[in-house]
Amino acid sequence: MKKIVFLCSGRGSNFRAVVEHIRARKFDVEIAGLISDKTDAGALELAKSFGVPTFTIPFEKYRQEKEKFHLEMEKLLVELAPHLIVTAGYMRILPTAIINRFVNRMINIHPSLLPSFKGLKAIEQAIDYGVRYTGCTTHFVEEGMDSGAIILQSIVEILPNSTVSDLTAKIHAEEHKILPLSVEYFLTDRIEVSGRKVIIRE
Ligand code: GRF
Repeated sequence: MKKIVFLCSGRGSNFRAVVEHIRARKFDVEIAGLISDKTDAGALELAKSFGVPTFTIPFEKYRQEKEKFHLEMEKLLVELAPHLIVTAGYMRILPTAIINRFVNRMINIHPSLLPSFKGLKAIEQAIDYGVRYTGCTTHFVEEGMDSGAIILQSIVEILPNSTVSDLTAKIHAEEHKILPLSVEYFLTDRIEVSGRKVIIRE
């Protein structure tokens, strides 16, 4: 049975969408844990309500020793030994050591049409730039922020009167479709990665 682990810093709506999808479709997968770098992340409560084991490595505690923080994270991930890691609103850049252990086995969701608007405040960046369309992207994690091979994307139109909050809601709704689907493709062995291209088999 495959094992999946989530990394979350925030409220966890994407985590919820993936767990609900996995359970509705009865995929043969163990949700082995949700790890957060924040003690007050809403995702932790959500995970508990789903009966998913929770782990917290509070970044605050390690502020002066980032390396130790990453080592703790790596140790925990090695112990949990997931086939797939999903970073769903995890707001830290992962170190090379962790990225290298999980090549093509770590999926991130980002609220823009990559490669545009990487990094923080991607929705605000898109509005400020004046693009007509933005959206969200799932991709494998590699070194370089928000830069790995793209799995799925979904488009959201920016209207003249779009605000950050209504665009955020529309993008979230799309994220909740493409992230569960990307995880499904991985769990059902339908994904093949060839350089930057992700091929999804029928
Ligand atoms: C999402 O918009 C995701 O794209 C970004 O962080 C947000 C997480 O939201 N990386 P949630 O915690 O899943 O509700």
